[in-house]
Amino acid sequence: MKISVIGAGNVGATCAHILASKGFAQEVVLVDILEGIPQGKGLDMWEAAPVAGSDTRIVGSNGYGETAKSDIIVITAGLARKPGMTREDLLAKNTEIVKDVTQNVAKVSPNAILIVISNPLDTMTYVALKVSGFNHNKVFGMAGILDTARYRSFIALELNVSVEDVAAVVLGGHGDTMVPMPRLTTVGGVPLTDLLPKERIDAIVDRTRKGGIEIVNFLKTGSAYYAPAAAAVQMCESVALDKKRVLPCACWLTGQYGLKDLYMGVPAMLGKNGVEKVLEIKFTDDEKASFTKSAEAIRKTMSEAKVT
Ligand code: APR
Repeated sequence: MKISVIGAGNVGATCAHILASKGFAQEVVLVDILEGIPQGKGLDMWEAAPVAGSDTRIVGSNGYGETAKSDIIVITAGLARKPGMTREDLLAKNTEIVKDVTQNVAKVSPNAILIVISNPLDTMTYVALKVSGFNHNKVFGMAGILDTARYRSFIALELNVSVEDVAAVVLGGHGDTMVPMPRLTTVGGVPLTDLLPKERIDAIVDRTRKGGIEIVNFLKTGSAYYAPAAAAVQMCESVALDKKRVLPCACWLTGQYGLKDLYMGVPAMLGKNGVEKVLEIKFTDDEKASFTKSAEAIRKTMSEAKVT
């Protein structure tokens, strides 16, 4: 299993580090345009391997030769948000970067699975799909696991329970219109709606929607990276080990949920072939309306991206 991570900034380097500590990849290649950065970070991580007890070989490079024949490529290259910015503000610049990266990786790893993290996520995943020409089951985006992890962690905090026992899903686009699903959230099998009043659930849903900007406002110089990287590694693991985990991912819809030709966060079974199945939820009218609104927001951003 060879995994390349493009972008050796906060998300990329953290992702490579977690991948190395997990040990399921034989090789991790870290690529960036900044000279010396991927080499230095890669070497530093490799030097941690004897202490961490991992044999994952980490290589850093400014070129794509070393990424050849990757099984999975994680795309994190691009600008991150600063306070006052929406993810959509990154559109023009990150479209150029994701195009460039995708062209390069697709040339030398024509059979790879592409996992996109760059924002605005749903549209950047679309850019990677179009530019690579890969089948849509092999190109998908990381957002839902992150948004769900934020939601789960806030619920665990509120109820003072283990995060492990909060089962939940957040759907839709990776932005203000994301769709957390309280009706389907359980704590050790007990419905969340039996444990918290509506106004507390609404407050948690709101904090989840604004989870990214909450971190940006603290950091000031960039956006979140520990949780995004951990989420991407969970996707890599399900593919690499063919675990067939069902995780919320940005998937290309082909009629599911009555929608097609866009990326949206939906529950997906991830295995060695990438997205092997999209699972459909029977929505209530309110959930359906929120999901539709989110789809409209994604289509708007997609239509503004200069893909060709
Ligand atoms: N090719 C390779 N690497 C590139 C390119 C390119 N064409 N353009 C930029 N990069 C690299 C930068 O040099 C930088 O090291 O991408 C890296 C981005 O790292 P950070 O600035 O630390 O940003 P990060 O926090 O990692 O976020 C990256 O993920 O979550 C999203 O919104 C976030 O779009 C952003 C992306």
